[in-house]
Amino acid sequence: MKNDTTDQLPKTQRALVAGGVGKLILRNDAPLPSLQPDQVLVKVQAVAINPSDHKFLDLSTVEGAVSGADFAGTVVAIGSDCLKPLAIGTRVCSCVFGSNPLRSDNGAFAEYVAIRSELCILVPPRLSLEVAASMPVALITAAYVLRSLRLPSLVPLDGKQPPKISSARPRWVLVNGGATATGTILIQVLKNVGYQPIATCSPKNAALVLKSGAQKVFDYKSSTCANEIKAYTKDSLSYVLDCIGSPSTMAMCYQTMGSAGGRYTALEPYSERIKSTRSDIMADWILAWTVYGEPVALDGIYKREPILEDFMMCSSWISMIEPYLANAKIKPHPVDINRKGGLNAIPDGLDLMRKGKISGKKLVFAI
Ligand SMILES: NC(=O)c1ccc[n+]([C@@H]2O[C@H](COP(=O)([O-])OP(=O)(O)OC[C@H]3O[C@@H](n4cnc5c(N)ncnc54)[C@H](OP(=O)(O)O)[C@@H]3O)[C@@H](O)[C@H]2O)c1
Repeated sequence: MKNDTTDQLPKTQRALVAGGVGKLILRNDAPLPSLQPDQVLVKVQAVAINPSDHKFLDLSTVEGAVSGADFAGTVVAIGSDCLKPLAIGTRVCSCVFGSNPLRSDNGAFAEYVAIRSELCILVPPRLSLEVAASMPVALITAAYVLRSLRLPSLVPLDGKQPPKISSARPRWVLVNGGATATGTILIQVLKNVGYQPIATCSPKNAALVLKSGAQKVFDYKSSTCANEIKAYTKDSLSYVLDCIGSPSTMAMCYQTMGSAGGRYTALEPYSERIKSTRSDIMADWILAWTVYGEPVALDGIYKREPILEDFMMCSSWISMIEPYLANAKIKPHPVDINRKGGLNAIPDGLDLMRKGKISGKKLVFAI
């Protein structure tokens, strides 16, 4: 270790681990995650919950594995080969692959996490650690979405010259599920890179989604939603991000696409049956768990070999977007912070999410 406070670190920690299908139990004697030379150890001060937390727990339970992805905290130990210049005490946020069958000691619902230094997002002074914990999964997902939709940045996020694209070309991107935690971040990212996002949401979340930067919102529960979008975009929509990714949302998204076709990207595996209805639409779905450049040992279509390119893409994406967080060009999804319950309160939060009761906000827990 290059730099550490190892002497002051406890030998064990409190952590929420899978105790069976759909069940989390609090362990008081869980081991601290082992630290690789390219990783830092972070003392977790806040975590947020994601749908993947309960999906892993319910559908691919790894008994004894620490759960949780999104976290924020301070660096307490630094491996000997870390490339990002972080110091002890630096405030960072990121996400880990909790419930990972290959790394059962490392999940966010714990007092300590280990994470590659390049995947740490610096938390600017204007953001509290609680608020910062709500953002990493969505921020990292954004890099995959831009790549999948083949949306070149029209503004120089990284200081490089952007590609020249005719100003006459429509730049609509539909974000279906604009009020999701991923949706409000993606809308802001799309706007920052030069596109005109439009979105679907419930009427009660219209103000939130418009404030995030959507040019127009549509009620996805309306039977005329797809037609309204098609009319608004004058049959020219060619990019759709589906943050819900169910067969019914995919069918609706396909109806919105202009007659010249385009690209559809979902955050869940798409329906082959609906894909086959239009050969002019390139369908794709993303899986951000490849961000670590390590194997994803999930079943079936979720299984992945290590993809180093994804780690490289996200490392440079994080460096590009850090200034956008610092100057509030990318703002957090609304947060509901539980400051009293700590790790004990997380299972109830996950249950609300499981039942579809979270709308337009991210549940955050101070640890
Ligand atoms: N593949 C990946 O790498 C990846 C990465 C990130 C997320 N995801 C997945 O993406 C999905 C969204 O995650 P999240 O955390 O962003 O969600 P979230 O914040 O928990 O989503 C809640 C929102 O979903 C909206 N919603 C529900 N049904 C809808 C529908 N039919 N049409 C439009 N909006 C609908 C609701 O909007 P209203 O309240 O306005 O009704 C609600 O506010 C999850 O399935 C998650 O697992 C996957």
